[in-house]
Amino acid sequence: QCGIPLEARFDCYPEDGATKEKCEARGCCWFPRSAQSLKRIKRIRESVDVSYCFYPKNYESYKFVNVSKTDFGLIAFLKRNYRSAYPDDVETVKMIVKLETEDRLRIKILDPLHVRYEPPYPSVPIVDKAPTDFSYIFKYNISASGFKILRRSDEAIIFDAMNLQTMIFADQFIQFSSLLPSKNIYGLGEHRSSMKLSTEWKRFTMFNHDSIPTEDLNLYGMHPFYMNVENSTKAHGVFLLNSNAMEVILQPYPAITYRTIGGILDFYIVLGPSPRDVVRQYTEIIGRPFMPPYWGLGFHLCRFGYKTLNETRKVMQRTIDAGIPLDTQWNDLDYMNNSNDFTYDKTNFKNLPKFVEELHKNGMHYIPLIDPGISASEVKGSYVPFDKGLAMDIFVKNSSGLPFVGKVWNRATTVWPDFTNPNSVDYWTSMLKILHDSVQFDGAWIDMNEPSNFLSGSFDGCPNNHLEHPPYLPAIDGGMLFYKTICMSANHTIGLHYDVHNLYGFSEAIITNFALAEIRGKRPMIISRSTFPGHGKYAGHWSGDVYSKWTDMRYSIPQLLSFSLFGIPLMGADICGFNGNATATLCNRWMQLGAFYPFSRNHNTDDGIEQDPVALGPDVIESSKKALSIRYSMLPYLYTLFWAAHTRGDTVARPLFFEFPNDWITYDIDKQFLWGSALMIIPVLTENQVSVSCYVPAATWYDFYTFKMLNVSEGKTMEMAAPLDTIPLLIRGGNIIPQQSALQTTTASRMTKFQLLVATNESQKAFGELYWDDGDSLNSAEERKYCLLEFTMDGQKLTSDVIHWGFEAPPNLGVVKVLGISAVTKVYVNKVDQPFDYNTINKYLLIKDLNVDLKKPMEVTWTY
Ligand code: NOJ
Repeated sequence: QCGIPLEARFDCYPEDGATKEKCEARGCCWFPRSAQSLKRIKRIRESVDVSYCFYPKNYESYKFVNVSKTDFGLIAFLKRNYRSAYPDDVETVKMIVKLETEDRLRIKILDPLHVRYEPPYPSVPIVDKAPTDFSYIFKYNISASGFKILRRSDEAIIFDAMNLQTMIFADQFIQFSSLLPSKNIYGLGEHRSSMKLSTEWKRFTMFNHDSIPTEDLNLYGMHPFYMNVENSTKAHGVFLLNSNAMEVILQPYPAITYRTIGGILDFYIVLGPSPRDVVRQYTEIIGRPFMPPYWGLGFHLCRFGYKTLNETRKVMQRTIDAGIPLDTQWNDLDYMNNSNDFTYDKTNFKNLPKFVEELHKNGMHYIPLIDPGISASEVKGSYVPFDKGLAMDIFVKNSSGLPFVGKVWNRATTVWPDFTNPNSVDYWTSMLKILHDSVQFDGAWIDMNEPSNFLSGSFDGCPNNHLEHPPYLPAIDGGMLFYKTICMSANHTIGLHYDVHNLYGFSEAIITNFALAEIRGKRPMIISRSTFPGHGKYAGHWSGDVYSKWTDMRYSIPQLLSFSLFGIPLMGADICGFNGNATATLCNRWMQLGAFYPFSRNHNTDDGIEQDPVALGPDVIESSKKALSIRYSMLPYLYTLFWAAHTRGDTVARPLFFEFPNDWITYDIDKQFLWGSALMIIPVLTENQVSVSCYVPAATWYDFYTFKMLNVSEGKTMEMAAPLDTIPLLIRGGNIIPQQSALQTTTASRMTKFQLLVATNESQKAFGELYWDDGDSLNSAEERKYCLLEFTMDGQKLTSDVIHWGFEAPPNLGVVKVLGISAVTKVYVNKVDQPFDYNTINKYLLIKDLNVDLKKPMEVTWTY
């Protein structure tokens, strides 16, 4: 019964202190720990042990007792065979299998006799019509007490829980394992790791926490979602909708084990079959990403420690004077009076309101930091946010029903709004309005919302109870749930902190998004540190307090790409790093990479040296200017990608395997990435390098700078030249990229004439889209107040078609470049002869000085 290969052993004793007796008391196998076997364990072990106390072969925790078919699938009851080692075992669990759509099914396992916690957000689709066709098969086996899901087209098993031998369903310990079809697994955030996750006994803990991004640590957000690419190259996704502290183990079988300490098991399984389809199907469940304002895609400048408005202005001005594109100036805590939300320091930031007005006049924007913690230590009657919050009974409560008190920053005492309280909408809106009435800020940077607390619990800790000290503790930073956060027994309107902890930042983002829309009447631009599935519908994210180190820069890419999977495309790391001091060489390369983060902001800690590009000298200035000018020239394309994410659930920053799923080598690549399907970004990630080794999948590519064609018939590793001021970029044939001229701000850039960069593929074809609206109105996409154009190149003809025209002012088309075509003899635009240049060395056609109204269909033809 115990003869099970190492990689197939499921841990029966995840807590410390296992002994033979204790293990066998659980009915499990004890692997004799001889010197030899210990050696073997060590070799394989990474963050968890190879199980040495594991479930035997015939162990059957739950068995089907009753299965009945429903219109949507089935309902089954399973009864426990053995007692688990955890208190309050649920004797009989109910399993509801709902075949929701052709590509999606939902499997809920719950306690039929007791209501257990289920997160109210994201608001998942309510399906009331059974699908008639399925891309999957759900199979169960009464005698084996398990189930599996197969892909109908090739009968591949994608989710295998045929043997529910390890399932445990106790009040504060729920465990579930399934076999994975391949080791190509991605997601399970928020973590610092490679993009493709290791299945070598790796543990991913999810419990939102203010931790400096470090391997094997739970970080700011929780995303219990993974994508798996099967051996057939088809992909599927699995989402566990549960908000409790959780750990997920990947082992080499390959297999996955979830352990959560509350809630229910609520799995969504989506069938792809392409990686792109998986993200589309996932965001159909959790909500599609919000549409950022156009200016939000410009460059953002920030730091903690500007200390005064003059300092802020000085750094901003020198950036502008150096000709570095810049859209938004930010302020950290520094602007506040005594670090208090919704105030500003009338001495050091005296003219802040006027400064923001000036920014607006110059087509720029301003974003301040907002913390959720509200000071509870101001003189009564002197601080409205506390007084009003108290009067509205808005704060999170301790177990005695009083506002829960902790401490953040230099406030002696801090309380936290309960964003699940319906009245928090009014509260938070009126607080943000108080600030907005004087400082007309344009967005919000919501920080510290894990929520982070400088105390562990309150001043006297937390009550000594089963919530603070559950029978099983996932491997979390600090070794206790309330470590530097609120007590688990604190109360929110929708539940105990124990259950809603991971929803705190998400709930704040929802309310902040609503409040900003209400106050400004324009599109909200929000960046939040803490996240949960569905967050992307309301806000973006930055990766927190990373170090100013080369490794941190390198890891920013897999992190960015994972958030693409999580439906949060507006993402970036603090460019040049947050903690520590950036060197000029690091910042030089990081500014280049950061110019291609969907959210591009240079931000720094208060005790670090200055790291705005100008502070670090001429090389950094030149690189920043060059890379950001490319970004600004590509904004129409980037904005269109965001629209595709918002409306179709596509990704913006994209891993290579999304575009080349048939090329296995791309599955591991996370040092390069794509913008959409068209632009490959190949950053330099090590010091003193002037070339970079990269992988180029089979396609026609063009060097971004010279337009020289690179025909790759079989994917290969190549060395790309990367002089210090240059980030290698490749354009992929088959794409038409809408561009504009890069100016100082996006406001100015978006007035310039459009340009089309047509990158021909091997069949002399290309396609592209342009989404265009006023850049800042609410619901432009939903209210159809936009223009959508499609560009198609086929042979010797390029056309532009108006798919929708609902917004009046897009600039005309000024330039067309067609790459990768033979020498041209004549060019006609809308049938009129047109002057042109043809570059014989790099083989591209350039048509300048056009003034074509895109409202009408356009046609460019040429002869060879
Ligand atoms: C923590 C945030 O992660 C960081 O970006 C910010 O500068 C500090 N809080 C101060 O507000």
